[in-house]
Amino acid sequence: MEIVNKTVPREDAYLKVTGKAKYVDDYFLKDMLIAKVVRSRYAHAKILNIDTKKAEKLDGVHSIITANDIPGQNIIPLVKNDLPVLADGVTKHHSEGIALVAAETSELALTAVDMIDVEYEELPVLTDFLSSRTSIIKLHEDDNTFAHHKVRRGDISKAFQEVDYIIEEEYLTPYQEHAYLETQGMLAYPNDEGGIDVMGSMQCPFYVQSAVSMVLDLPLSKVRIIQTATGGAFGGKEDVPSLIASQSALLSFKTGRPVKLVLSREEDIASMSKRHPGYAKMKAGVMRDGTIKAYEVTYVLDGGAYATLSPVVLWRGTVHAIGPYKCDNVSVDAYAVATNKVPCGAYRGFGSPQILFAAERHIDKIARELNLSPVEIRKKNMLRKGDYTITGQHLTNSVGLEKTFDAVINKSEYAKKYDEYRIDESKTKKRGIGISTVYYGVALGAGGKYLARSGAFVQLLEDCSIQVAVGTTEMGQGMRTVLCQIASEQLGVPYENVKMLPVDTSRVPDSGPTVASRTTVMSGNAIIDACNKIRLSLFSSAADLLKCSSDKLYIKQGYIFNSDTEESISLDKTVKECFNRRLHLAAQGFFVSPHTSFSSDTGQGDTYITYSYATNVAEVEIDILTGELTVLKVVSAHDVGRAINPQLVEGQIEGGIVQGVGYAVMEDIQTENGRIINPNFSTYIIPTSCDAPEIVPLIVEEPFIEGPYGAKGFAEQPLMGMAPVIANAVANALGVNVTKIPLTAEYIKELIDNKL
Ligand code: MOS
Repeated sequence: MEIVNKTVPREDAYLKVTGKAKYVDDYFLKDMLIAKVVRSRYAHAKILNIDTKKAEKLDGVHSIITANDIPGQNIIPLVKNDLPVLADGVTKHHSEGIALVAAETSELALTAVDMIDVEYEELPVLTDFLSSRTSIIKLHEDDNTFAHHKVRRGDISKAFQEVDYIIEEEYLTPYQEHAYLETQGMLAYPNDEGGIDVMGSMQCPFYVQSAVSMVLDLPLSKVRIIQTATGGAFGGKEDVPSLIASQSALLSFKTGRPVKLVLSREEDIASMSKRHPGYAKMKAGVMRDGTIKAYEVTYVLDGGAYATLSPVVLWRGTVHAIGPYKCDNVSVDAYAVATNKVPCGAYRGFGSPQILFAAERHIDKIARELNLSPVEIRKKNMLRKGDYTITGQHLTNSVGLEKTFDAVINKSEYAKKYDEYRIDESKTKKRGIGISTVYYGVALGAGGKYLARSGAFVQLLEDCSIQVAVGTTEMGQGMRTVLCQIASEQLGVPYENVKMLPVDTSRVPDSGPTVASRTTVMSGNAIIDACNKIRLSLFSSAADLLKCSSDKLYIKQGYIFNSDTEESISLDKTVKECFNRRLHLAAQGFFVSPHTSFSSDTGQGDTYITYSYATNVAEVEIDILTGELTVLKVVSAHDVGRAINPQLVEGQIEGGIVQGVGYAVMEDIQTENGRIINPNFSTYIIPTSCDAPEIVPLIVEEPFIEGPYGAKGFAEQPLMGMAPVIANAVANALGVNVTKIPLTAEYIKELIDNKL
């Protein structure tokens, strides 16, 4: 490999570091209006009347829209189709959109918003997700349950009778705000064909296209979606942009003018999706030697007011429920339930971080009660090649968990420090060290099977430069760089000669959503498929020029070689010859994911095409007097199959760790009667560079045979092991049982004082 598996400069580096990249709020179109949203003041209320008369009279206010003015359906199409574009008759969460205003300026639009009188009748508010299923307040069907998923494997009642110990605990995890640098934003404008174009910040342009088409009642072909530079997403721009795009498109359609809707940070935090708060009850049956024989898990997620993506987020957590361990007798029941709070959605890890916190805390608790070390208990039970997951999936290749484990244990000097820190009783600052092992099902798997395909279009031009078009998106993760490397390697042209086309639904093939760490595998393989078709043309010319058969040929760095004689001809000449012969040098590529399956009755099946694996060791220091926690160092090893770009892999590890430190230690959304009361970064605290620990990223490569060059996706995984590894380190340091995050000074002080 010449380009793949090497660190090359990011494809988008220049535009981003020079500030030249254009984000949606950098665009100003002629006659553009600014949109603002009238938002609900209650978490649950009937909307009796919306009086827009005063606001309409304001000079410069061009359109006010309520649910009654929607030409198509008042629905954002997602799993259950229950999320409205604007609340109609009832509002189910605070800050939900009720009406839209388009005006000449932002000030005018805000004034109009203030002048719109909404008459409410307050309804009882359901805030506690743990009592949602039995609450008398009904938000969704009879039991407020958006989804119930299960896993049934073996015979748990019998197994629990045969084990030596039964260990139970309950765990809680909080909201997490995405805190993307760029808030949600869209700019819609009428196009020449009587349709609409919408440009903005997003992960999934084809989702946005479906939504706008449904809301405006336009055929998909008349709705064109263009992705602008996107300043972070982390899952927060999977479903929500469909809502923002539909709202701006409605106003643009009504006024015939461009309309820009960019959220303020406060309204973004108050009204947009978050990581689901989670609850997990773990009950494990173990033998004296540490072998886990039975596991029963109850997992509940707070879905908020609408189902949105909760059923699929829940599914991922369900099938990862006990962590990366073997167990033949497993029962999991998982529920996503309704509350009168902001709808929760996708966030890096997608339902796994919550359950893996519980699973990884629980395995440490098991070790402690059995007087085994956290290393021994994991070595005893971890998934290895040839094992079966809790859904009965046979792991046949690319199972690098133990390699990550051994690498981290050695590099971190875990054993030495584990003993050292445990005997150190002296000071007011106490150190601790912890481990977590996690895994992540790559791509959508059986939970999103019908989306598990990806298109690409590759064109080799006369000067040996390449244009590549895919429908997956760059949001900061480095997709464009990685895909350029793959195209460059596959056609033997320099990396600098590859150009990714902008993502525009009228020009790029649908590649499915940019989620679930799927893009390297899915778009990468689709590009390889397209490149292979172009190679057929190249090889037919080269075979004649080199006077050999085309199956002897290979491409490397600008030349095509005959593998028998090592004679070569330049790609330049070959391309010219292809042009002379009028051969096709452009191709569509398509990739359909390998087999996955799932039975919703038994929860058994091959749930994912493959898994990534990771081990983390963290060292922490706790001030016994104040409860303050500092994360000193994290060593983190990830089996990524093959690192297409090692520096980007390390970047994902570093970013995920810092985001995970935030989740574990400080991030804390506060609500009052369903309303978020800290919707800004002065009260919702996220880590800065000062809070970042020393990070040692380690790359493990156990090639995934069906991935591009052996690669598999992993970029969500670095966050997932952080909450448990930090909690385990704290538990070890203090000899306490940590059952929730964030590990604020207050919580740690409580643990110390009560020696919980
Ligand atoms: Mo991602 S959390 O699968 O958008």
